Amino acid sequence: MSLICKMPAATSAVPKIGCVVALAAFTAMPGWAQERFEVRSPGGVVTVTLEVQNGTPTYSVTRLGAEILEPSALGVRFAEGPSFDGGLSLTGTETASFDETWEQVWGEKRNIRNHYNELRATFETEGETTRSMDVVFRVYDDGFGLRYEWPEQDTLGAFEIADELTTFDMAGDPIAWWIPAYGRTHYEYLWRDEPLSALDGNQAVHTPLTMETGDGLYLSIHEAALVDYSSMSLLPMGDGVLKADLAPWGGNDGFTLVRGEAPLVSPWRTMQIADTPGGLIESYQILNLNEPNALEDRSWIEPAKYIGIWWNMHLGDWSWGTGPNHGATTEHAKTYIDFAAEHDLPNVLIEGWNTGWTGRWWGDGVNMNFTEATEDFDLEEVMAYAAERGVNIVGHHETGGAVPNYEAQLEDALALYARHGVPSVKQGYVDFGQGIEHDDAGGVNRGEWHYGQYMVEHDALAREAFARAQIAMNPHEPVKDTGLRRTYPHVMTREGARGQEYNSPGGGGNPVDYTTVLPFTRMLSGPMDFTPGIFDLGPDKAHHTPSTLANQLALYVVIYSPLQMATDLPEHYEANLDAFQFIKDVAVDWDDTRVLNGRIGDYVTIARKERDGEDWYIGSITDEIGRSFEVPLSFLEADREYVAEIYRDGPDADWKTTPLDIEITEALVDASTVMELRLAPGGGQAIRFRPASEEEYETMDEYAPE
Ligand code: NOJ
Repeated sequence: MSLICKMPAATSAVPKIGCVVALAAFTAMPGWAQERFEVRSPGGVVTVTLEVQNGTPTYSVTRLGAEILEPSALGVRFAEGPSFDGGLSLTGTETASFDETWEQVWGEKRNIRNHYNELRATFETEGETTRSMDVVFRVYDDGFGLRYEWPEQDTLGAFEIADELTTFDMAGDPIAWWIPAYGRTHYEYLWRDEPLSALDGNQAVHTPLTMETGDGLYLSIHEAALVDYSSMSLLPMGDGVLKADLAPWGGNDGFTLVRGEAPLVSPWRTMQIADTPGGLIESYQILNLNEPNALEDRSWIEPAKYIGIWWNMHLGDWSWGTGPNHGATTEHAKTYIDFAAEHDLPNVLIEGWNTGWTGRWWGDGVNMNFTEATEDFDLEEVMAYAAERGVNIVGHHETGGAVPNYEAQLEDALALYARHGVPSVKQGYVDFGQGIEHDDAGGVNRGEWHYGQYMVEHDALAREAFARAQIAMNPHEPVKDTGLRRTYPHVMTREGARGQEYNSPGGGGNPVDYTTVLPFTRMLSGPMDFTPGIFDLGPDKAHHTPSTLANQLALYVVIYSPLQMATDLPEHYEANLDAFQFIKDVAVDWDDTRVLNGRIGDYVTIARKERDGEDWYIGSITDEIGRSFEVPLSFLEADREYVAEIYRDGPDADWKTTPLDIEITEALVDASTVMELRLAPGGGQAIRFRPASEEEYETMDEYAPE
């Protein structure tokens, strides 16, 4: 069946659902054609219209007839030679349709449907030397992606992009949840929600940029498959216009954004569109716009939980570098390994075991040695001790931003870990700035941006080296996630936002509603190593983690990561083994994910089914306001009884005063049960649902709301 329906622009015929519709009409102006092409998503929900008027292409977007994007700009300006910035001829169009269901190696959902209609439009520059570029649109029922492709051609060899002209011209004045780009702490900011019109035109903002329209739609602009390019932030230009703003290379005048060579494709510029906030979380468009898995052997990639020599450093009681309070000693490592073995936690992270944590290492990592252990740490002994107890050591590479120093040692560093069977390495790029040549202002002149092309290329180099060594990655201070985990599933998780460490004494603190913003913003890009699970809560602590204990447990379900840390100290878990049981049980790899409710910055409830098992889990969290939700358990398998293991805020729980008040109960439930979830201020609820045994079925009380 042909997907192309050509018709004159003047007709009012409504195209069939699933059709790519090409509309062509010509203005009276001699020599200039006006052409119009519509691409509808397979279910007819989203429509993208490409229009070329007087040699200038624009695109606009509607959802079920409601205007989302007004005519928005397309194009690219090169540093030299003809650019795609007007005066273009459209030399051809092609359409295609695609529908497949593919399996994630690991993830929030096992099987993902990738169903879209595509339009490819080929443009040529005018003049004696012509250059050619395709603009490709993929239109889904939950949004769209567009990208530029430069095929191999004589007139475009190596090139520099001086500006990308793409804009998103928002219809109306949505509320935007934004964090600033080009700041000193990469992506580690608190989201502010403001009408788009309030955004300062000098301040670029990072993606994912999530917005709520006046019509109650939820949108998120991001990018997919960031390879060989510089990453995109968005510059508010007034009147709802958001312009692509590519991070420049350092070391020059700041005008070179991308260095490329045809053939090259840009990353996808994406917009997810949903009619509920949870619809954004349930959209897999970013993954769908990435290439399929490129790793043949994936047997070495394993989702897992870990503990580590870590939180004590952030509390200030231990240090990374050597001295009287050095954290990574042989003795401490053995204590952590014993705890992991006793509680079936497969992995132990050890930070600070190597030499080079000297001086101002958090921006000057040139002394980092990735293979030499400190005097009080016997690497061979620790590795052997762990292996005897069936525990893996998680590696650590803190570069302190000295990327050339890291790259020079990378092969040896990975070979060392590979020899010891290390399954994953946490990397760090604190205060990145091209070795010691960094610039305190954040990288502009001599240094490189964390999300500029230099770092994107380093990331690719590291990715390949890690794949060869068969070790998974967990970069902190990373390049933002753009769904590359589909192609390279050993890139398992990353930081890329303020994590739990901001709740440490020196961290300044995340506000109580912070984790209710994350799932709808940063998490839309991919998994995050947030590091939940602080048990030592209370107003008397030097750190103030703004949540109840039940909230900390719920975060294991709400904030997805295939590598999930049990963050607190072993002694704090030992003091509350009943609550720790949830961390031991909760899955890290999922068959399915359903968002049961949510309002950005207020609350969210997510249900997930474990992969290769029967259990379901719920995580529900709220901001500073206590709430009750009625949650039907219709996601459970019908005609089956489950035991709900409930970890909920106690009657007196409050994140400010009494965060440790928790009730742990059990009850029988089935798919017809409607549970009442009561969450304290700053609270949460975590529930495991497991099939009931016959005995439990006969003896256990059925669930009854309080
Ligand atoms: C910043 C990381 O986010 C943190 O987890 C790590 O402990 C320090 N860098 C040191 O590498």
